[in-house]
Amino acid sequence: MAEKHFKYVILGGGVAAGYAAREFAKQGISKGELAIISKEAVAPYERPALSKGYLFPQGAARLPGFHTCVGSGGERLLPEWYEEKGIELILSTEIVKADLSSKSLTSAAGATFTYDILIIATGSSVIKLTDFGVQGADANNILYLREIDDADKLVAAIQAKKDGKAVIVGGGYIGLELSAVLRLNNLDVTMVYPEPWCMPRLFTAGIAAFYEGYYANKGVKIVKGTVAVGFDSDSNGDVTAVKLKDGRVLDADIVVVGVGGRPLTSLFKGQLAEEKGGIKTDAFFQTSVPGVYAVGDVATFPMKLYGDLRRVEHVDHSRKSAEQAVKAIKASEEGKSVEEYDYLPYFYSRSFDLAWQFYGDNVGDTVLFGDNDPASAKPKFGSYWIKDGKIFGAFLEGGSADENNAIAKVARVQPAVSDLNVLTQEGLQFAAKI
Ligand code: FDA
Ligand code: NAD
Repeated sequence: MAEKHFKYVILGGGVAAGYAAREFAKQGISKGELAIISKEAVAPYERPALSKGYLFPQGAARLPGFHTCVGSGGERLLPEWYEEKGIELILSTEIVKADLSSKSLTSAAGATFTYDILIIATGSSVIKLTDFGVQGADANNILYLREIDDADKLVAAIQAKKDGKAVIVGGGYIGLELSAVLRLNNLDVTMVYPEPWCMPRLFTAGIAAFYEGYYANKGVKIVKGTVAVGFDSDSNGDVTAVKLKDGRVLDADIVVVGVGGRPLTSLFKGQLAEEKGGIKTDAFFQTSVPGVYAVGDVATFPMKLYGDLRRVEHVDHSRKSAEQAVKAIKASEEGKSVEEYDYLPYFYSRSFDLAWQFYGDNVGDTVLFGDNDPASAKPKFGSYWIKDGKIFGAFLEGGSADENNAIAKVARVQPAVSDLNVLTQEGLQFAAKI
């Protein structure tokens, strides 16, 4: 099969790829220099839409509505945009072999692509219950959510099982967003997760208590402290029940599993230095091999603010790391350099009428402030994380744009606090003063 050469190849066609392409266009590239190779069949889009607007019962988001870069208020890059810029979108093409020494990638269909500069933007894959050999986990309607094809399967299942029963396995991001949107679709929803409260990797017990109460008021049932150990299915192979470790059995027409992701780095095993489960990069997202960059979910990069190396699985970083890598690539071609990446972690989620944002690092002691009554008409509350007498992290539910900016500033500036009681009383006012 023919070999195709490009000056720049972006491997992966997700969020980071879309933002990298826009940055390449901004910096100036010639037609035919850049290709994006993606196993998905569509141009880069804003993945967060899949667990939110895409699944709404009315007015659901559909492509081309949410191609990158609309998620950050930028231009929507339609397939025509790539064509106009001479950027080749090589879609429905999975790369199954990467040989960094010969700078070549091979697709499942046997095509070869060579490059001068490679940006790895392969994102994450979902962890499946079949990976652990959970009994019956290959039944129909046990669904996962990562790509648009997965979201289409969910839409079909929601339509086929109208007003039926859904069990959500996992209490993280997918668990919380999916249980809300399935409830909006009038399914009878039960969440199951092993921990004592939801989203334990970020939420404190106090924050989680609000969301659990709010979800319960919306009719979502929550089963904590246990896991799914098996599934029953009918003669068609459709799931009918979830068996829990504590002996309970939950009827189910649809099961959605969100038990975490895994960065897609396997193509590069033994070829690139790795760290903390990701591909190790410098502050410009260059890997241990010159001319090979890694961005988004797969990159383990220096977090300047905290003086350590981290991997971040969130959309804001995927956008910014992609832009940083392209700026660094273009600058180095002119013998110039760019500033080191100086990232302030930013995570957010939306479900029902709720919207929270978090900035910084969730380390140290915490204080909870504001109105966190799940029954309030307009709840607004937050938390600060305090370490060594300074605020490291800030969380806010229900904040305005200005208030969210204020907590972001607090996490960046890390102001000193002497009295946690005063901080609790001042709450958002403390942030407003910084
Ligand atoms: P991304 O996963 O976007 O793209 C990777 C691309 O590479 C995919 O197109 C994939 O098909 C392709 N690929 C992988 N291997 C390949 C191969 N071998 N050959 C060819 N192509 C290959 N974050 C947040 O901050 N707020 C939010 O609300 C959400 N919401 C959200 C919802 C859902 C459903 C998911 C799954 C994730 C989120 N996230 C999020 C996380 C966020 O979407 C995620 O961190 C970014 O999409 C990461 O961007 P990347 O470009 O690194 O990977
Ligand atoms: P996650 O890591 O947020 O949560 C996984 C949850 O599953 C945890 O609560 C974990 O303890 C639980 N769990 C683990 N094993 C289990 C088991 N056997 N049974 C039941 N529960 C189990 O991962 P996720 O929610 O699957 O999300 C996947 C990826 O998508 C992540 O990268 C995430 O950042 C991303 N995402 C982000 C957002 C957002 O930022 N708003 C939204 C959706 C998805």
